Amino acid sequence: MLDLIDRLRRVQDAPVDGKTVLVRVDYNVPLADGEVADDARIKASLPTLNYLLEHAAKPVLLTHLGRPEGKVVPALRLDPVAAHLQTLLGHPVHKLDDCVGEEVKEAIEQGEEGSVFLLENVRFHSEEVADEALFARRLAELGNLYINDAFATLHRAHASTLGICDYLPSYAGLLVQREIEALSHLIDNPTRPYLAIIGGKKARSKLGALRDFLDQVNAILIGGGVAFTFLRAQGIQVGNSLVDESLLGEITKLIKAAAEKGVTIHLPRDVVVAPELSAEAQTKVCPTTDIPSGWMGLDIGPETIGEFRDQISVAKTIVWAGPMGAFEIEPFSHGTVEIAAALAGADAFTVVGGGETGEAVTKSGYAEGISYISTGGGACLALLRGKSLPALQVLLA
Ligand code: 3PG
Ligand code: MG
Repeated sequence: MLDLIDRLRRVQDAPVDGKTVLVRVDYNVPLADGEVADDARIKASLPTLNYLLEHAAKPVLLTHLGRPEGKVVPALRLDPVAAHLQTLLGHPVHKLDDCVGEEVKEAIEQGEEGSVFLLENVRFHSEEVADEALFARRLAELGNLYINDAFATLHRAHASTLGICDYLPSYAGLLVQREIEALSHLIDNPTRPYLAIIGGKKARSKLGALRDFLDQVNAILIGGGVAFTFLRAQGIQVGNSLVDESLLGEITKLIKAAAEKGVTIHLPRDVVVAPELSAEAQTKVCPTTDIPSGWMGLDIGPETIGEFRDQISVAKTIVWAGPMGAFEIEPFSHGTVEIAAALAGADAFTVVGGGETGEAVTKSGYAEGISYISTGGGACLALLRGKSLPALQVLLA
């Protein structure tokens, strides 16, 4: 892993002075009422942008937003992102309405030194996700060199993250370097006990990571929607809680494999239940073995919080991905806030992965106490699981 950081071609070693520099960022941020609702990813890109501006470069930013599947989706245009970036950067940002083509090329050429351009959502073109060579070349034609600072998109082999590197000298931005350095603490001989806390809505999206973590961590705490499929796999009736029936067999195998490898899996003992997911719903706490039919589990309960706190207090390395409940709705936010507090107070190297979990931790007010909050969700987990990230591989010397 130390290897990895040493092998990265870095923006600091790139001849950026006075150049038009294409920068792939990840501004895939949540929007609410046409405004940026969480700007952590935009803020995280500022060091590289400031570096380029200090070096008299002309940064041209590329990003995706959402999954428009090759069509122009007006709600996924980047104008609100450009406005927000301009405020944070304190420097004019020229938003263009496409990411390739003659008009885009001319606008960039006419921009003075120090101009910052944000091109339109690259996923409005189906060739982006398909990583088509011609499209990658058309993107590459817009600049002299390429910096990838989109840590959260390094697991995607797309034209703006991978294909473009065939046509331009490519380097890692400051955010990518910072992420790799922080996460290397978890890969390169983590101090033990090493604890993983996994939550979030869907069991399916976390199953692969859970399986790979069995070879790395000493214990796993499972909360959020993910927990109910695990409880169901153990034969527990969970009422109307979220369960993915198609995974029961695989989860039974995973639980067995964990026991064989000596990895302790902690499931919730009690939960906050409600008849529906709403802020006005009636709620109560009950043991997970006693969820009334017609009710659903929406947060971990106090006894579980206590047990999870105990585990957190003895761990020396902790990674957390996925909220413990439906944290965006007040009556179900408690478990997530308490786990954030426990992490902040832990005597351990603590990492939070994933946009949603990072957002929850920031909202809880405990972000300051966390060693590192990654901007990546899938990319962060993929790296920690030991997967090779295609858009990172091309940045290695
Ligand atoms: C993310 O938010 O995880 C990244 O921006 C990647 O987005 P994607 O999952 O739509 O490829
Ligand atoms: Mg994602």
